[in-house]
Amino acid sequence: MNKKDTINSSIMLGRRDFLIASAGAAAWVAMGGLPGTAQAASPHVLPPLPYAENALEPVITAHTIGFHYGKHHQGYVGNLNKLIAGTEYGDLSLEKIIAATAGQPEKSAIFNNAAQIWNHTFYWNSMKAKGGGEPPAALKQKMEASFGSVDACKKELAAAAVSQFGSGWAWLVLEGGQLKVVKTANAETPLTTGMKPLLTVDVWEHAYYLDYQNRRADYVSAVLDKLINWEFALQNAG
Ligand SMILES: [Fe+2]
Repeated sequence: MNKKDTINSSIMLGRRDFLIASAGAAAWVAMGGLPGTAQAASPHVLPPLPYAENALEPVITAHTIGFHYGKHHQGYVGNLNKLIAGTEYGDLSLEKIIAATAGQPEKSAIFNNAAQIWNHTFYWNSMKAKGGGEPPAALKQKMEASFGSVDACKKELAAAAVSQFGSGWAWLVLEGGQLKVVKTANAETPLTTGMKPLLTVDVWEHAYYLDYQNRRADYVSAVLDKLINWEFALQNAG
């Protein structure tokens, strides 16, 4: 089995593997392990999209996905492989590279590219065709316990996404048994602060500008209403 086949197999088995990991591998859970993104050593590869490039239309067009996934996400993979070739990070998994370089200004190029690979794979999985709507009952209960209602949770997510100044991400996370909404700048990820990411919305301009120009709020509300993958969030909360 070659490298690509190995990764594709891991994606197909990802959900089961993640549940097993959730039960038994504290270190993996502590890193917020993402189904399908557990990557072995370099060279890192661009994980396949979990759907066709036009699957999210009309909310996000194939044109946007083509650039976002095919150019930006791919670009981070190429950059990281160049940056870590022959270094102490060359044989580390993506998650270990993120943990090892977080908060170190002299390692920011490696961190930024590694975290952007992880964040983007997590983002693709945070959406699906015909998403949005009513969350599964188990997630709905958690939302009501932490925010009062599903709508209140969505409003907080939207507010975080819209108010992030410049490039970044809005996240639904689990911390201390509570759901929380946080936002991060640039490539920063809640993984490095001990939170467990459940889902994310990319608010870098490259995520929406071709389709929405400067109307970030319209992009965010459309994603939350029509694409967000609540099942993925619940799976990560398990
Ligand atoms: Fe992005």
